Amino acid sequence: MHIGLILGIESSCDETAAAVLRNGSEILSNVVASQMTLHAHYGGVVPELASREHLRNIVPVVRQAVAEAGIALRELDAIAVTEGPGLAGALLVGILYAKGLAFALDKPLIAVNHLEGHIHAVVMGANFTEFPILALVVSGGHTHLYLATQTAGSWQYRNVGRTVDDAAGEAFDKVAKLLGLGYPGGPQIDALAPLGNPYAVPFTFNPIKSRDTAVDHRFDFSFSGIKTAVLRYTQTHALAPRDSATLDLIASFQSAVVGNLMRQTLAAAEAFGARALIVTGGVAANRELRRRFTAAAAERGLPIAFPSLALATDNAAMIAAAAWPRYLCQTHAPESLTAAPQLKLG
Ligand code: KG4
Ligand code: ZN
Repeated sequence: MHIGLILGIESSCDETAAAVLRNGSEILSNVVASQMTLHAHYGGVVPELASREHLRNIVPVVRQAVAEAGIALRELDAIAVTEGPGLAGALLVGILYAKGLAFALDKPLIAVNHLEGHIHAVVMGANFTEFPILALVVSGGHTHLYLATQTAGSWQYRNVGRTVDDAAGEAFDKVAKLLGLGYPGGPQIDALAPLGNPYAVPFTFNPIKSRDTAVDHRFDFSFSGIKTAVLRYTQTHALAPRDSATLDLIASFQSAVVGNLMRQTLAAAEAFGARALIVTGGVAANRELRRRFTAAAAERGLPIAFPSLALATDNAAMIAAAAWPRYLCQTHAPESLTAAPQLKLG
């Protein structure tokens, strides 16, 4: 088997990350410099500040990843970097640095789609033998369903569902902000939900109407409605921070979002004859989500896999892992590589 050392670099949003992987799955180092505390102050990611922080962090983060891997830069076989989607200025910091490093070391540069990275955060630790796999990528910026197949070592994706408004993670973050829980909201809601009654507040998801008949919208998502419903609830009920009514609201919100993610994903899995499920991205760290998806998949006899908690949120190990099949096929990025903020997968 070919032996290869790949340095992955990720800077699409608010984490500056670098990792070294051997053979696409063995993590030698995985360094993440989070800007969470900086952006928490504003209740969300501020693009200008993110770019500035990436500039500050990129050199020490890459140096640390290489040092922790116990290798010298010249031993690397390739450098992989996130091309998009993400914030233009943030992406550019990683891309320009990766380009400079690849040029200086005379190594190939591999461009990676961030969403494919999230899928490979799971693929790298699993052994899928049957296809297609249905992957739910659910994070602060994305809620997408992809049908993934592998032929002759390379991966193909088909986008079969997407959010028409907010991403699920965004809904967690906005609801948490509304309830004064701080940023990012997902982990806070995850921690508080078990203290409330998930049946206390009934939330409903209406069917999504779209005039675009060229695209199949059966497996789309929409989370702006539930966000507004939570806002209305707070306006019509006297709530105090972390009192029992607030905890009930939190539990009901999380339960409804997880239920909706499950219904759409399982319906798509059935419609497309998926042989396995992947649930990945920041929201895949959620405990209720993992528990309920695991139980529902088991009921249907479907194998299901999640990323480890460290690989659920943004990191560079997943970028190096997604680059591995491209490295083997020698699919390298052109010299003209630049940030693709709206890059699609499939
Ligand atoms: O994948 P990620 O790090 O960044 C994006 O690509 O967006 O995901 C971050 C998102 C945030 O919205 C955060 O609130 C959410 O993932 N998140 C969670 C949990 N941990 C992170 N949501 C629900 N439960 C969690 N435990
Ligand atoms: Zn992400």
